[in-house]
Amino acid sequence: MIGANEVRAGKILIVDDQESDVRLLERALGDAGYTEVTSTVEPREVYDLYRANRYDLILLDLVMPGMDGFQVLESLKELEVDGYLPVLVVTAEPAHKLRALRAGARDFVSKPLDLAEVVARVHNLLEVRLLHAETRCLYDQVRAEQAQQQALERALLESRTAAERAELEHQRALARAALKADEPRGLVARSPAMRQVIELARRVARVDSTVLITGESGSGKERIARLIHEESTRSAGPFIAVNCGSVAETLLESELFGHVRGAFTGATQDRPGLFEAADGGTLLLDEVGEVSPAMQVKLLRALQEREVRRVGENRTRRVDVRILAATNRDLASGVAGGTVRQDLYYRLKVVELRVPALRERREDLLPLARILLSDAAQRMKRPVPSLSREAAERLAHFAWPGNVRELENAMERSVALARGARVELEDLPEEIRQAPSSAAFASGSVRSLEAVEKEYILSALALNDGNQTLTAEQLEIGSATLYRRLKSYGLIGARRANQRNESA
Ligand SMILES: Nc1ncnc2c1ncn2[C@@H]1O[C@H](COP(=O)(O)OP(=O)(O)OP(=O)(O)O)[C@@H](O)[C@H]1O
Ligand SMILES: [Mg+2]
Repeated sequence: MIGANEVRAGKILIVDDQESDVRLLERALGDAGYTEVTSTVEPREVYDLYRANRYDLILLDLVMPGMDGFQVLESLKELEVDGYLPVLVVTAEPAHKLRALRAGARDFVSKPLDLAEVVARVHNLLEVRLLHAETRCLYDQVRAEQAQQQALERALLESRTAAERAELEHQRALARAALKADEPRGLVARSPAMRQVIELARRVARVDSTVLITGESGSGKERIARLIHEESTRSAGPFIAVNCGSVAETLLESELFGHVRGAFTGATQDRPGLFEAADGGTLLLDEVGEVSPAMQVKLLRALQEREVRRVGENRTRRVDVRILAATNRDLASGVAGGTVRQDLYYRLKVVELRVPALRERREDLLPLARILLSDAAQRMKRPVPSLSREAAERLAHFAWPGNVRELENAMERSVALARGARVELEDLPEEIRQAPSSAAFASGSVRSLEAVEKEYILSALALNDGNQTLTAEQLEIGSATLYRRLKSYGLIGARRANQRNESA
């Protein structure tokens, strides 16, 4: 609450053109204990005085020369934002009272002055004014607190959105990781068949068992082997692939197990083999079906004992190597035919992963083509071209007997040949451009050999501009055979008929 002393310390301005009235009021207020009382007989000064001193109360005479009380009220209004003017109007005119209140005055006293009444009104008004100021102050405080609160909330909100943003970023990273997880670095697997292979590869990666990876030539067996290594606990160790089929039999043993100096002519120094080199990592035995039976026995021993003996050495060395094997041959039939040892076969195929041929996973084709195209372009430091619709269609329908590797070569060639920013049909290798459509594989239905043969012969003929001799030569059949075929298709007769028609 407002104390009486505070009220008496209220700043008061008396405005009256009559000096005598001013003195009267000053004395009455002074006697009542008001200490801060000033006065003016000049109404034009009020505005500046109020602006400078911010009185808590103005006692305002209404009838003044030059500028009347209403004009003063009007001028003061702009100094009070909320329109509250601490003005006590002093007037003799009853009609002025209401008008003064409407003009913003708080109260009025009548003339002739009842000084006791004036003091009482002054007290009331000051009290209200101070209360108002206090609530105003409180209000400002609350407002400030509110603003602070709002700022806090905004900051909180901002930090929350920052947190949300971080969360979103995290989710995106996870999604990216998941995407990467689905298709590890540059490994295309859109098809369900390939996805399954990758999923299985991932699962077996975690255990240390031997995995036999089968699949046609160029289908991506080594790529899958590398994935298994990368996703295994051995990923920090080496990954070594050895093509058993391409190394001469006599050299393979030394290549795999190493040799000591003088073990054979040319062995000028000790050399560790690939098993030792792959210690702590993974060794891929590629084309393992090509290995001789004698070598198979040695391989089997190494797999079972987890130790190797360098050629020409008596002692064995322990190796910590995970073995993966790959083959494009049917090892089971090799076992049946006696070229592959059954014990080795079982040892290798603890887990078998079959990489599907490219024609068995058409969904992978164009994504693969684009990746391989971009890889090739990067290697050749050329801009990455796009695929024209015709080229893409052709790629999609080709049978790809050489699988991904064949596609890889085709894309590299296309980058080299592409003149513009696009690979056109004519940039594709001829065998792909001209080969009969393997729609049979694409549609999943098998067509008769006769139909396929007919289509193939006709495309070959078209390729050679109808030159039968050349076509027969390329097809490696006699021209009589080709002639009979064409006749059976009804083409020879029809042509003659046409020619007759034309000449007629
Ligand atoms: N799914 C795939 N995504 C991207 N590139 C692949 C994919 N599969 C294979 N490749 C690429 O195709 C090429 C042939 O693959 P890889 O060498 O793994 O085949 P392979 O089955 O081992 O062949 P081969 O039978 O001739 O030994 C490699 O350059 C490989 O990176
Ligand atoms: Mg391979």
